[in-house]
Amino acid sequence: MSSASEDKFFPGLEGVISNETAIADMQGTQGQGGLAFRGYAIEDLAGSVSYEETAFLLLHGDLPTAAQLDEFNGRLRASRAIPGALIDLLKTVPRSIHPMDTLRTAVSVLAHFDPEVTAPVQDHDANVRKAERLVAQMATAVAAAARIARGQEPIAPKAELGHAANFLYMLNGTDPTGAQAEAFDLSLTLYAEHELNASTFAARVTASTLSDIHSAIVSAVGTLKGSLHGGANEKSWEVLEQVGDPDRAEQWIQDALARKERIMGFGHRVYKTGDPRAVILKEHCRRVAAEIGDDRWERIAEPIEREMTRQKGLPPNVDWPSARLYHYLGIEVPIYTPIFAMARVAGWSAHVIEQLDHNRLMRPRARYVGAPHRPVKPIAERG
Ligand code: ACO
Repeated sequence: MSSASEDKFFPGLEGVISNETAIADMQGTQGQGGLAFRGYAIEDLAGSVSYEETAFLLLHGDLPTAAQLDEFNGRLRASRAIPGALIDLLKTVPRSIHPMDTLRTAVSVLAHFDPEVTAPVQDHDANVRKAERLVAQMATAVAAAARIARGQEPIAPKAELGHAANFLYMLNGTDPTGAQAEAFDLSLTLYAEHELNASTFAARVTASTLSDIHSAIVSAVGTLKGSLHGGANEKSWEVLEQVGDPDRAEQWIQDALARKERIMGFGHRVYKTGDPRAVILKEHCRRVAAEIGDDRWERIAEPIEREMTRQKGLPPNVDWPSARLYHYLGIEVPIYTPIFAMARVAGWSAHVIEQLDHNRLMRPRARYVGAPHRPVKPIAERG
């Protein structure tokens, strides 16, 4: 006889509350679906605070004072360099390997060289320091791996630049314009945290066994990679590129919907009336496209967005506009998802630390649907 709890089955864990958290709230002020980081609405954070302030908020619980931000920036900048052994390893990875796979390896290698690698897994302060180093180092690792994949030498970080500008500098070897750095910084803030999405859940499950923070982030990177989650920003670009011409967009989406295709960059498990991050980023995409004098991708995106919402009731999620923004910034498509990861590491880390501070092992049950219990026959009697 199965117990009552075994009878409750939630495919994909939809609607299941498995944790309490003080980090992100997706209820919104009207219970309509919104997003707030530690009580601050995403609409108020985006464009008003830097990614560094957002990361501080997530890791330390509140927005920094000017003095706290100064010190935090100092610590991030001092931690940006990655070990030479990691750069050497990245040079040996076959060029065909996806950058999300090299990033997963990079986080694992960074663990070995972390100065507090032997600290107890539940040492809160050591975990915050490790998280800060990961925020700084993952950006450097993504840029270095991208350059190596292009056959170029990695570029050392530039201490006088902020996190977003420094990343673009390490990627391209030139200082970005203020507008480019600002737009990129905004995307990092929007990507920084999102409650119990699949990758954050994976990180918390790993931490719940009393494993270490780097192991939890490795789990998260591997989980983010999939196209139903973070991998959707790369796939969103493929959709836009496949359409290619604004005049084809209307027909393309009608045909795709008639074929019952899944259109990457649309839909969300929690938001059913729209992703507030996508709304914010779309405005910035329009602005950047106007600045560079090329609205082709906006004009392709628009009818697809309209028809997905009208016919399927599926508004875009954040990955839909972020693909366009990264294209406008001249960033290569395979590192769209690694950029998501280097931003999300702040949220992942905050969750891992919260999990380790109030831990209970995560161990759900499965409903058994296999063969009935049966005797083991001697090998000669099987078949
Ligand atoms: N395109 C077309 N149809 C869709 C889409 C889509 N993007 N998303 C959902 N649907 C349809 C499904 O086909 C299904 O239809 P049916 O009931 O007729 O079979 C119905 O909506 C429900 O789909 P599920 O996959 O069960 O819904 P779920 O809540 O699991 O969906 C998900 C969430 C996985 C994000 C889904 O919307 C999807 O696959 N989107 C595309 C991938 C994507 O953009 N992922 C990024 C999410 S945001 C993030 O991770 C940052």
